[in-house]
Amino acid sequence: MKELEPDGDLPGGTRPVDLSVDLGRGLVLANPILVASGTFGYGVEYGEVVDVERLGAICCKGTTLRPRIGNAPPRVTETPGGMLNSIGLQNPGVEAVIEKYAPLWQAWRVPVLVNVAGESIADYVEVVRRLDGVPGVAGIELNISCPNVGKGGLQFALDADAAGAVTAAVRRATDLPLLVKLSPNVSDVRPIARAIEAAGADALTAVNTLSGIALAPDRSRPFLGNVFGGLSGPALKPVALRIVYEVTQVVEIPVVAIGGVTELADVLDFLAAGAVAVQVGTAIFADPILPLRLVDELAGECARRGLESYRPLIGTALPPRPGAPSARGVEYRP
Ligand SMILES: Cc1cc2nc3c(=O)[nH]c(=O)nc-3n(C[C@H](O)[C@H](O)[C@H](O)COP(=O)(O)O)c2cc1C
Repeated sequence: MKELEPDGDLPGGTRPVDLSVDLGRGLVLANPILVASGTFGYGVEYGEVVDVERLGAICCKGTTLRPRIGNAPPRVTETPGGMLNSIGLQNPGVEAVIEKYAPLWQAWRVPVLVNVAGESIADYVEVVRRLDGVPGVAGIELNISCPNVGKGGLQFALDADAAGAVTAAVRRATDLPLLVKLSPNVSDVRPIARAIEAAGADALTAVNTLSGIALAPDRSRPFLGNVFGGLSGPALKPVALRIVYEVTQVVEIPVVAIGGVTELADVLDFLAAGAVAVQVGTAIFADPILPLRLVDELAGECARRGLESYRPLIGTALPPRPGAPSARGVEYRP
């Protein structure tokens, strides 16, 4: 594949491909390839290896009100086709993120979305209130896969009312673009996606990791210090693709896909299932250049097909609208 100039231009004056994508509330990305929260640090760690400013956007590590040391080790293990992690939101806390990283982000043309986590609605609102108006913070991605203290540890992402309530409260606290990240650990994600949309989110990101465990080699106990971990990587992709396919049929707001992207074919699959953009996560650990290569390859693919924009690739695998809201998917649910 030919090397492309930044922003999708082919060398030699070939017509540029428009890769820009509007995620709402003024958040327009130069291209639809983002890096996923927890897999790209704060962006600065990769500055020497990757031209981070050519990414569509960076979702930084999960950020909480106070610093967190994370879960007991071991925290990661490989699995067939993926990995399990139980990092437990290790981070220096929102104030340190604002002081240390936001000034650097401000100088970049790539938007940085701060991934926000909390144990109560008040936690989320306070973190977002502190981020609101900070130069360098382009938007918020709410990680709602955190135990809700008020609901006895039930995750916000597992319940439509809780997901709607936290989204609405954060929406009232900021005018920043607001993306909310769905969990795959539910039997039907559609009511949750609708509740988040109704509560004022600008976009959805789908999905977070799938809950799993591994055992110690002698099988005397679970392997991870936290017992439970989140499955990511190629093993997650069919689940993520199903969720994107279901969600894009029941909401009007843009959906950003995540889960097991390792090559252009994965990007094309998620676009065909209705996503407007994709995030790359686990694959970055093996190949930090991959997200930028995907930007170039997507532009190259559009040029090859004679497309001026990647938009015709979106939603091609969806049933024609208007249709019955994907009740068919239910048949395939385990
Ligand atoms: C080590 C690790 C840390 C992660 N930390 C976060 C996090 O802090 N917040 C979040 O919303 N998602 C986090 N995730 C989930 C990823 O952003 C992504 O949703 C998931 O890994 C699926 O994408 P992938 O298969 O491309 O990795 C983390 C994933 C990994 C592997």
